[in-house]
Amino acid sequence: MTLRTEDLAQLIQQRRSCYLFKDKQSAPLQTNTLKTCLEAALWAPNHKLTQPWRFWVLGSQSQAVLASTYAALRAGSRAEVDSEAYRLHYTSAVEKFLQIPQIVLVGQVLSDDAVIRKEDYAACACGIQNLQLMAWQQGIGVQWSTGPILQAQATYDLLEQSPERIELIGALYMGYVQGDCNNQSAKRKPLESVSVWLD
Ligand SMILES: Cc1cc2nc3c(=O)[nH]c(=O)nc-3n(C[C@H](O)[C@H](O)[C@H](O)COP(=O)(O)O)c2cc1C
Repeated sequence: MTLRTEDLAQLIQQRRSCYLFKDKQSAPLQTNTLKTCLEAALWAPNHKLTQPWRFWVLGSQSQAVLASTYAALRAGSRAEVDSEAYRLHYTSAVEKFLQIPQIVLVGQVLSDDAVIRKEDYAACACGIQNLQLMAWQQGIGVQWSTGPILQAQATYDLLEQSPERIELIGALYMGYVQGDCNNQSAKRKPLESVSVWLD
């Protein structure tokens, strides 16, 4: 079957970063569905076939460990450690994080060569977009987050990785789309304002 141009255009244009998911107990992501999304990432263009992407699919235990890292960073940026406000921020952050139906961490294998490194980041980004489109086509929303957990040593420890070899470039928060995903940022500048067509 040939994919129609208008269907592909619609998929690309309608995909939104998702900030609101259906409850994970009533709408869990099945392993095979998730694998379909990850497989799509593998087919992204990548110069010299470096295939620089690595994925860590979190289960409930690892999500709970990451929730404490997330909460400590979030509470620490909002209140004095050990204060009552800190404890409140911490608890609500853990709760919020545990509600995310599925988390996939994406890392880039770091080349020693600066040019390859840059190209590899581009390739990883292409892979993430493939994943996002494949997910969206199945009613699954993704939020690509680059928040502070990606820089935390505790996250690298959880994955048993070294930041010298792997750079974490995305936490993908995934789940079945609820409503408009709580996303109000669908606008784009018109093509004419960002393109120049030369003779
Ligand atoms: C490299 C990169 C990093 C991003 N980091 C974050 C992030 O940390 N938090 C977040 O809410 N969205 C993040 N986003 C999603 C963008 O905010 C989102 O794509 C943008 O608002 C446009 O919305 P759309 O994806 O619905 O078209 C990131 C996107 C990219 C490409």
